[in-house]
Amino acid sequence: MCDSAKSVAVLASGTGTLLKAIIDNQESRYRVDLVVADQICPAVQRAKNAGIRTAVVPMEENRNAWNEKMVAAVASVDPDLVVSAGFMCLLGPAFVKEFAGRTINTHPSLLPAFPGAHAVRDALDHGVKVTGCTVHYVDAGLDSGEIIAQRAVEVEAGDTEFELHERIKKAEREQIVHLLHHAELVNGKVVFNV
Ligand code: GRF
Repeated sequence: MCDSAKSVAVLASGTGTLLKAIIDNQESRYRVDLVVADQICPAVQRAKNAGIRTAVVPMEENRNAWNEKMVAAVASVDPDLVVSAGFMCLLGPAFVKEFAGRTINTHPSLLPAFPGAHAVRDALDHGVKVTGCTVHYVDAGLDSGEIIAQRAVEVEAGDTEFELHERIKKAEREQIVHLLHHAELVNGKVVFNV
């Protein structure tokens, strides 16, 4: 058990509201040392505004080469934990192996329902009455790793994809920050005492 602040690398692709919640709630339990994005996006600017180191690793046709660059970028800060928070690229075996047990992802559905990039739309199309969010360990599959925590969010009559996603993201922000405040390293794996 290690009680010092955990070093966190965050992966993001978009607006970065999850990243902002993670940054804003840093305390003695963890600190964000690096933000990696696959494109220039608001998340990168949020990190820069907070004085956090950033790296942009654009997706390439050669997925193996891209994965190696992702490994190198993240390994440069030797983080205890890698958090994929709105990162819209699938991490390959090289990355998953390098940071096994230390990489987690937040996803806007109650997995195993609705994996993939359109989880909120798919849930609405299916007509579910309750959906939510999941934090899971990252494996080489699509949103298929071991589940760590989930929160339910009710679908309201007439919800648009945007409205429902905004409520889910509120739950995602609370959930990921709560987990990060309770992260412990045990034999190289991050576990959450919640
Ligand atoms: C979240 O719902 C995340 O789970 C999904 O993309 C969204 C990211 O939102 N993969 P933001 O960019 O942090 O606002």
